[in-house]
Amino acid sequence: MTVSIASPLEFGGLTLKNRVLLASLTRDRNPATVPGELNIEYYRQRSTAGLILSEGILVEPLGTEWTYAPGIYSEKQIAGWKKVTDTVHVEGSLIFAQLWHVGRVSHPVLQAGQPNVGPSARCEGWQIPPAHQAIEDPQRYIDLYRIAAQNAKRAGFDGVEIHAANGYLPYQLLDKTANQRTDKWGGSDENRTRFAIEAVKGAIEGFSDARRVGIKLSPSGGYNDVGDAEDVLIHTYSHLITEIEELNIGYIQLVRWFAAFDPTTRGNPLDPIKHFRPLIKNAKVFLNGELTGTEAAELVALGQIDAAVFGRPFIANPDLPHRIIKNLPLADINWGALYRPAGD
Ligand code: PHB
Repeated sequence: MTVSIASPLEFGGLTLKNRVLLASLTRDRNPATVPGELNIEYYRQRSTAGLILSEGILVEPLGTEWTYAPGIYSEKQIAGWKKVTDTVHVEGSLIFAQLWHVGRVSHPVLQAGQPNVGPSARCEGWQIPPAHQAIEDPQRYIDLYRIAAQNAKRAGFDGVEIHAANGYLPYQLLDKTANQRTDKWGGSDENRTRFAIEAVKGAIEGFSDARRVGIKLSPSGGYNDVGDAEDVLIHTYSHLITEIEELNIGYIQLVRWFAAFDPTTRGNPLDPIKHFRPLIKNAKVFLNGELTGTEAAELVALGQIDAAVFGRPFIANPDLPHRIIKNLPLADINWGALYRPAGD
């Protein structure tokens, strides 16, 4: 049977109705960390997706970049998310919670007087606040991911995703330029990948089902002042993906390099499919990063990816799967102050 972008996709006892997925997008829809009516409406409109990947959801009150980013560490937040997940299910889609901690790139005014934390006490780069402290015991954060996964299950999510991409906390430990630790969390590939692997294990324990856990990786670096040399990237991510495959998780989401995410040009535009696809045998493979519908359909038909993840076009086109499957024109993205790729 030939597989197309319109075909259902099965994993972990779930059936995705198509292979066009909604990307995690920070929306700041509510003047609070509790999701409300605007979040419900936003996700309801996009329940056309085979799977919705929620906006980044904070695992603790600290570790955030945005005043109104939602969390999943209080009963009120769990109740708020339950209304979102119920709505998505009534509308016939599925939703995973993206578990998020931004580590050293937290906004200092949102830290309640606490220091920003990262793998090491360093200051560098365009966005990193002037000072951040080295995390004393990374295990504390693994526990936060485990508890957040438990809470996500109670809130009715179909699964959880560890956000280990885009220079946030798990990425900060993977990156040699950000992670200068000399304990078991720094140095070798084995040590730098430990945090992401343990976070995934924590999520598996919290959700009680490995196939309902995914991880998001952006091996090209760039965003948030991270970026190792190509040989280091290939080594680090080959080790990480090989180890994660052993955990039998549902999917690995790979983000490819795109200019909007790399104003510092620290990234390396390596092709994650070429380098890492061959290592993935059990998990489903999702690809994210300025895909066009045509390209996504081709990659699915070739078996290179299992599903394609779309961000900005899904904001302007809540019926994006239908448009891609039927090859219909897309409504323009309202670029506003957003970065606009050349030629768009
Ligand atoms: C953002 O809010 O700007 C943001 C959040 C998560 C990402 C990337 C960007 O992975």
